[in-house]
Amino acid sequence: MTRTTFLPFAKPTITDKELNEVRDCLESGWLTTGPRVEKFEAALKAYFGRDHVMTVSSATAGLHLALLTLNLQPGDEVITTAMTFVATLNTIEHAGGRPVLVDIDPNTYNMDLNQVERAITPRTKAIMPVHYAGAPVDLDDLYALADKHNLTVIEDCAHAIGTECKGKRLGSTGHIQVFSFHPNKNMTTGEGGCIVSHTKEALDHMKIFRFHGISKDSFNRFAKDGSPFYDVVAPGFKYNMMDIQAALGIHQLAALDGFIDRRNVLARQYHAAFKDWDVFTLPQGPDFDHLHAWHLYIPLLNADKSPVSRDTLLARIKDYNIGLGFHYQACHLFTYYKNAYGYKEGDFPHAENFAQRAMSLPLFPTMTDADQQDVIDALQIILKGS
Ligand SMILES: Cc1ncc(COP(=O)(O)O)c(C=O)c1O
Repeated sequence: MTRTTFLPFAKPTITDKELNEVRDCLESGWLTTGPRVEKFEAALKAYFGRDHVMTVSSATAGLHLALLTLNLQPGDEVITTAMTFVATLNTIEHAGGRPVLVDIDPNTYNMDLNQVERAITPRTKAIMPVHYAGAPVDLDDLYALADKHNLTVIEDCAHAIGTECKGKRLGSTGHIQVFSFHPNKNMTTGEGGCIVSHTKEALDHMKIFRFHGISKDSFNRFAKDGSPFYDVVAPGFKYNMMDIQAALGIHQLAALDGFIDRRNVLARQYHAAFKDWDVFTLPQGPDFDHLHAWHLYIPLLNADKSPVSRDTLLARIKDYNIGLGFHYQACHLFTYYKNAYGYKEGDFPHAENFAQRAMSLPLFPTMTDADQQDVIDALQIILKGS
């Protein structure tokens, strides 16, 4: 097999609708937060069926703002998973908290809720699950645990716009959810994200910190009937989304259900192709009713059955013009977190095992069946020699 073009593991779907909207936005003369952000936020509210939704410049910014609502004091703890992108932990640090890590369930790659319960102390203020690769954490069990211990839940939904848990869309229920619109995610605004909040108070707090602590929308400040004067009520950040980004988001959100459908078709096709391969352990969703967003399709390599190591495979498949992703290294083994909290190898064996064996296969809505066959064929040659 010879591909003439490189197949990346992820690629955003950009149509004429996005291109025209961005052009219109640029020609309108209004580039930063303005009418398109307002329109996008209204569409997000309708999508989630929630009143308190706002856009941000990234999910990282959104997680930071969400954590600030907890008013964490030195020594306060937030429980999260060792297997995530490091933004989940870093933002806990930025908000003044202490990340307390737990291991993953090796079947779902999501945080193990039994371990969460054991990690709760009098200093615990929140639980921060990650719906890994688009597979939901069990919201019933999660919120039962949070209610029992009077804890706030901040859901890192960076992978999971479009995911449903027992018939409920993530973001439609619960405390605070933060979504990412990075180009590799299920829909994109370039960089960007959004926050869904259960209370107006929490959203108002996040809104103030989103833009310099200024107590009103900058958009109104520059409008014909707006006033140029404002007050600053807190030392806020600059985490607002631009209209250029929202121009993408408006059309991406409208297309999202179709993106998730195609992701599911591709994931099912990978499952079917690999079902008898003993060299892989295939990803499975949780064993309750759910809609997986398949942000990532991550098989684990069984080293004892494979002629090559995972790292060699990641390198060698590039010879076939195919790129695999890798999500992620186990966070407790990063230098900062080892030094700050004394974490060490062996602390979270399932996360470590996952990090040694995981790879993200190409999966994005415009990937064709022929592209997918190229991936399967290249893996067949490297792993099975034919
Ligand atoms: C689990 C998780 N949380 C948070 C983020 C941060 O998202 P963003 O890039 O939008 O800041 C990412 C990004 O990859 C992620 O994977």
